[in-house]
Amino acid sequence: MRNQRWRPSLIPAVIRGCIVVGRIAGLSGGKAIFDSVSAFARSRRARRHLLPLLKAARSGDGPLRVLDVGGTANFWRPIIPLLDGMNVRITVLNLEPRPAADDETFTYVVGNACALEYADGYFDVVISSGVIEHIGVEETSVPRYRVTPLPNRDELRAAFLRELLRVGKTIYLDCPNGAFPIDFWHSDGPGRPRFHSLREGFLPTFAEIRALVPGARVEALSPYQRLQFRQAAQHWHGRLLARPAEWYLRWMPSWLAKSALNPFLVVRIKSAVPAGSPANAAAATPRRAAPGSA
Ligand SMILES: C[S@@+](CC[C@H](N)C(=O)[O-])C[C@H]1O[C@@H](n2cnc3c(N)ncnc32)[C@H](O)[C@@H]1O
Repeated sequence: MRNQRWRPSLIPAVIRGCIVVGRIAGLSGGKAIFDSVSAFARSRRARRHLLPLLKAARSGDGPLRVLDVGGTANFWRPIIPLLDGMNVRITVLNLEPRPAADDETFTYVVGNACALEYADGYFDVVISSGVIEHIGVEETSVPRYRVTPLPNRDELRAAFLRELLRVGKTIYLDCPNGAFPIDFWHSDGPGRPRFHSLREGFLPTFAEIRALVPGARVEALSPYQRLQFRQAAQHWHGRLLARPAEWYLRWMPSWLAKSALNPFLVVRIKSAVPAGSPANAAAATPRRAAPGSA
């Protein structure tokens, strides 16, 4: 799983790069855009898209360990009652300060996704929603939304994915599709379309994500139920297209989900070598086990 060209001397630079870039994402474009998603849309997205993924990932009787990388309390709050009795432990990790106190289900951690302090294979599921595109780029929303890729963008994104794959058995990643020419998530207003060049270097394509994790099993899933069209519905084009788009996504096969005809990527990644196996552990950077881990 480890990239042969990876040199230890680059590690501190990559980690620092992730922190700087992530903070920019969190404090400027990323946060502004995330905050505009309504609680209702978040709740529907979580109920219809996320809960089935978590239920499918359960194996055995122990608690299901989930890591939400770049996650927020706002995202989970609406579905807390639905997690009752599911025996799930969710760690929400973000560069930003802890948003709430821990409880039986949630642990909030301030941390950098590019240098996770968990043992190999500690989590059953790692999810990361709308984060990878903010790694390795510089964004500003003043006076208008603008984004510029950094020279080491791919190195930072590869380090990010390597860490997710190291600590998790199954990774679910999502982001707007760079191969699709319209971005509805990052612009001067919520849901306002932003037409972009395919060489812009901001939003990743499916092929780019796959190239960042050589040897891993990477599948494109339809974003059906992940997208709720709430932001787009604030505009006439959104109201017009929401219903046909929902039907289109509902029947979208995997070959279409990875193509330029899908506006939003949902990607499942599994390591070729199961996380936590001796071969994988030998290749991985040693880390201390998560606090409280057995
Ligand atoms: C656009 S928001 C997405 C929030 C949430 N996952 C959602 O689906 O609504 C991107 C988030 O990623 C966080 N982030 C960016 N880089 C990060 C890193 N290297 N480590 C941890 N969090 C990071 C930012 O602080 C921000 O909260």
